[in-house]
Amino acid sequence: MANGAGAALQHATRILPVDTQDLGKFKNKATLETWLLPTDTGKLAPLHKAAELLKFSSIPVGFPTETVYGLGADATRSDAVKGIYAAKGRPSDNPLIIHVCDLTMLCSLLSPDGIGKDSIPEIYKPLIKRFWPGPLTILLPNPSPSKLAPEVTAGLPSFGARMPDSPLALSLIHLAGVPLAAPSANASTKPSPTTAEHVLHDLDGRIEVILDAGPCQVGVESTVVDGLCDPPVVLRPGGVSIQLIKECAGWEGVVKGYKDSNEVGQEAPRAPGMKYKHYSPRAKVILFEASISQQPVSTPAVSSTLMASEIFQDLQLMSKRSLPTVGIVTTKYWSEWAGLNKAALSPETRTQIQRAKPFHIQHSFSMKQGELWEGTSSCSNSTGTQLADIIEISLGRDTKTIAHGLFSALRELDQRGVDVIYVEGIDDKGDIAAAVMNRLRKAATIIKK
Ligand code: TXA
Ligand code: MG
Repeated sequence: MANGAGAALQHATRILPVDTQDLGKFKNKATLETWLLPTDTGKLAPLHKAAELLKFSSIPVGFPTETVYGLGADATRSDAVKGIYAAKGRPSDNPLIIHVCDLTMLCSLLSPDGIGKDSIPEIYKPLIKRFWPGPLTILLPNPSPSKLAPEVTAGLPSFGARMPDSPLALSLIHLAGVPLAAPSANASTKPSPTTAEHVLHDLDGRIEVILDAGPCQVGVESTVVDGLCDPPVVLRPGGVSIQLIKECAGWEGVVKGYKDSNEVGQEAPRAPGMKYKHYSPRAKVILFEASISQQPVSTPAVSSTLMASEIFQDLQLMSKRSLPTVGIVTTKYWSEWAGLNKAALSPETRTQIQRAKPFHIQHSFSMKQGELWEGTSSCSNSTGTQLADIIEISLGRDTKTIAHGLFSALRELDQRGVDVIYVEGIDDKGDIAAAVMNRLRKAATIIKK
């Protein structure tokens, strides 16, 4: 592995910032046939450096897309693709998504001999027209012989392809001159990266270059669909909602082909990525499904929600061993501190948060810390028992904002060394809520419903 990603590198991993204004455009947005580089080529210097690596080495490159950061390599070279699996520590039976910069590049993969210029299956035409460039991956038949390295498809007869909605990514692919195989640029099993710093955290020393364009807009990965079967199937929920896909001709009867949480592993998965542990921070994640979040506790003289009393009971047990540090992630409805700042959990027991203060950090979410104390109804601030140090992240109420901050929040809490993270789930209908809940259920150690 002289040049492989698993070998010790001579250079530390470098983050190269990119100015993302006017980074290129389609010759004709209606046809998506040809991607054109920007006229101001001075901006391309970091992309040229990355493209050189993609062309001539087997060390993959970290780059942003609109969904999450990807770890890209030349999809036509086996040694380059193997470099991805090595850097991520990812099992090689999980196929990779091919990223193209325009439809000309995609068609060259579908008919490598150039015969049948428009070789895209009809079923995908309405999806491409509506959602590309964008967070949608389609499964296509892999021709034989194929230009793609066999490691990309993990032996499957199809390959997944997408055109990212990121001029940076499209110009990088154009400069590399080849389609890029790119999984999310996290270490295998970890939450996907939505900033260059996340990629550095996971892959420092394993790759040479990370292109940095700030936080990803969408925050969850692309939706993966298979239209080659009848009825067509959604294999992974993602940045394009199933409701919108259903509005397209031929896709009215699309079915859900993925399983969430405890359903996973009970039968052979249709998308190989579905069978692995995923999106998991180091801390234990306890997910409250939306249905449980708002249930009040009905015992007389108790004023709390079911989730506050469940969290309280957990922490009482944990604090007997040592003082835990706990993360709380709120979304649509939970009140501040998940209600623990003023819960009356029994006629005698009260909880309160002391020494609360906000963190002043650059994030799309707000974050604060405090101490959780248990005391009797009559206790003052200075009496009682401390149960936990708490860090609370409030992702906001809008589903898109929640998706945008989700992985970043899990990573932030992990970096601050929390032992357990309590997360408020959302109703998984509408918009990209299905993607948010799919990722959370996979990250969760315990699901309360
Ligand atoms: O948004 C995204 O899709 C990101 C960015 C970087 O583009 N990429 C990404 O790739 O999430 P990855 O490798 O983490 O996930 C690829 C998913 C896996 O669930 C994999 O099993 C599925 O796509 N997949 C890829 N090719 C497939 C195929 N031929 N058949 C079935 N599933 C496939
Ligand atoms: Mg991934």
